[in-house]
Amino acid sequence: MRIKLWLDAITGLFARNWITLLGASVTTVSALFIIGYFAVGIVVELPPYAGIVGYMVLPGAFVTGLLIIPVGAWWDRRRRLKAQREGLPEPLPYPRLDLNDSRTRRAFAVVGFLTIANLFILSTVTYRGVVYSDSVEFCGLICHTVMEPQYTAFLDSPHARVRCAECHIGPGAPWFVRSKLDGARQVFAVALDTYPTPVPSPVENLRPARDTCEQCHWPSKFTGDRIRVIEKFSPDEDNTPLTTVLSMHIGGGNADHPGIHSWHINPNKTTEYYATDYEREDIVYVRVTNDDGEVTEYFARGHEDLDPAVLPPDALREMDCIDCHNRPTHVFRLPGEAMDRAMALNRIDADVPYIKARGVETLEAAAEVEDGRAYIAEELRAFYQENYPELYAEETERVEAAIAEVQNIYGHNVFPRMNVTWGTYPNHIGHTTAEGCFRCHTNTHRTLDEPREAIRQDCTICHSVLAWDEHEPAILQQLGL
Ligand code: HEC
Ligand code: HEC
Ligand code: HEC
Ligand code: HEC
Ligand code: HEC
Repeated sequence: MRIKLWLDAITGLFARNWITLLGASVTTVSALFIIGYFAVGIVVELPPYAGIVGYMVLPGAFVTGLLIIPVGAWWDRRRRLKAQREGLPEPLPYPRLDLNDSRTRRAFAVVGFLTIANLFILSTVTYRGVVYSDSVEFCGLICHTVMEPQYTAFLDSPHARVRCAECHIGPGAPWFVRSKLDGARQVFAVALDTYPTPVPSPVENLRPARDTCEQCHWPSKFTGDRIRVIEKFSPDEDNTPLTTVLSMHIGGGNADHPGIHSWHINPNKTTEYYATDYEREDIVYVRVTNDDGEVTEYFARGHEDLDPAVLPPDALREMDCIDCHNRPTHVFRLPGEAMDRAMALNRIDADVPYIKARGVETLEAAAEVEDGRAYIAEELRAFYQENYPELYAEETERVEAAIAEVQNIYGHNVFPRMNVTWGTYPNHIGHTTAEGCFRCHTNTHRTLDEPREAIRQDCTICHSVLAWDEHEPAILQQLGL
């Protein structure tokens, strides 16, 4: 009996018109599903894809339902006004609001309860939805094919525990909104299959690094030099290890600690440049402005008559962290680098004869064939079975493990579906695998006034080379490494 009274109150509220009823039903059903989704999420771990339904489709339906309800009310009002104008009886008279009437009190209680419940569901779902859409799983896995190269590289990088959004969006509301709009556009591009392959780099509208990187690495934090030990292996039978030792003059974020950072991320200096290409590889003009207004301009050879005043206003780019650290987390390597790293980390056994040379060779060729992984396995297996039959027979596992690791390197760097292959995404941090620093530090980017100063390439301004491709260099012992 009591239940019936409550049901009457609810139907009394909604049965006035079918549009409102429809909205209310959509909202109620999606609310139940949302609650169900959360409940299931507590018990079992749902796959990231489920989030699309839980945080986007269902809340979308929920809000649509809520929006339909006032539409129904508006329609109802028009219907009434029309009836009044034409002198017809009203479709259903309004109830009298009399709080002494228990029916009315029930209706009020129902409305109050539903409003609070809706607000609660809406705020929870909005919060969880935002957290979800900023999560690494959402960015990296939802558009699986598109993000696969960047996501794969990210997982194997120093920033694997930093969320995508911390570098790609950063703090604050304006960029948050921008990123959501941009994200919606990207979802359409994926749905309509109109996205570019590979995803172009540099990212044109990346947030300036001072709002992202500098949240964790602020310039005054850096000081002094850093020793870098780079291990390589020769392409001979023994894969002879070679070591390069550099003392990187990183320096601090100010002139007290001279070095790379003290020059380039000095808060009292702005460096701008103009590149003729989208990739920012061909830099022909560099301008340095000091705080005191002093301007120094460098022109590449053959571009001395370039007039910066006629360049379009956004053609100049202000240099920041990304112009050197363009691959802090999406690190793609060339076959030689990748083999050296895997061998140095002992992922590939350096005692397998010729593994360095054969590995590099098959990796390069694998990018040209249909099924690169299968090709690597066939080629390397055939090589060892033919040339080292005893080794292969006695230590099959060791050789096969090395082969599997070479396949892994392929899987981490070559993504045929996204047209990503060796060298698609060059790293600007050095000058050996890509132009990098030598896009400007050429000795030939010079000022126009005599004496013509150059952006220098002296081998000691960025690092001291303590050992260069040496076998067991003495310096490592001196350093106690
Ligand atoms: C440590 C900071 C950082 C993190 C974390 C990060 N990125 Fe990036 N991402 C960058 C930088 C820097 C670039 C290159 C920008 C440039 O050259 O303009 C980039 C570029 C990209 C590109 C463009 C293609 C390319 O390789 O240049 C995509 C796509 C991308 N990131 C996706 C992701 C995804 C997905 C995640 C999370 C799984 C993520 N990023 C995490 C810093 C980061
Ligand atoms: C949320 C904090 C955070 C943000 C944002 C961040 N980093 Fe880092 N970064 C770290 C941490 C932590 C490490 C140390 C990781 C380690 O030692 O393995 C690191 C390490 C590095 C290193 C040294 C890597 C190495 O091989 O030793 C570089 C270079 C670097 N970050 C550059 C950047 C750049 C460029 C950006 C902006 C695109 C950035 N970081 C954004 C936290 C962050
Ligand atoms: C002119 C190029 C350049 C710019 C600009 C630059 N860096 Fe670096 N940074 C380097 C080089 C080169 C190294 C040393 C790399 C190595 O050791 O291999 C380095 C090293 C680092 C390291 C590792 C330091 C350590 O002690 O291990 C971090 C972190 C880093 N940079 C962050 C940043 C951040 C954040 C910015 C922007 C505020 C920035 N860098 C701007 C070139 C640059
Ligand atoms: C967009 C152009 C540009 C790029 C790219 C660039 N630099 Fe520079 N760099 C300059 C200019 C301009 C100067 C000032 C000229 C000078 O004094 O030699 C300079 C000066 C320096 C200095 C100070 C030189 C001195 O005389 O003390 C260091 C160190 C340095 N850069 C390191 C690097 C490193 C490391 C990289 C690559 C990771 C790099 N730069 C990439 C433009 C560039
Ligand atoms: C403008 C700065 C700059 C100048 C000038 C410079 N280097 Fe470098 N060099 C770098 C950076 C940065 C790296 C480290 C890249 C990395 O982190 O892997 C590097 C790395 C190297 C390496 C190790 C690369 C490897 O993978 O084996 C060698 C060797 C080297 N430099 C030699 C030289 C020589 C020789 C010169 C003089 C012609 C020179 N460098 C001038 C910035 C510079």
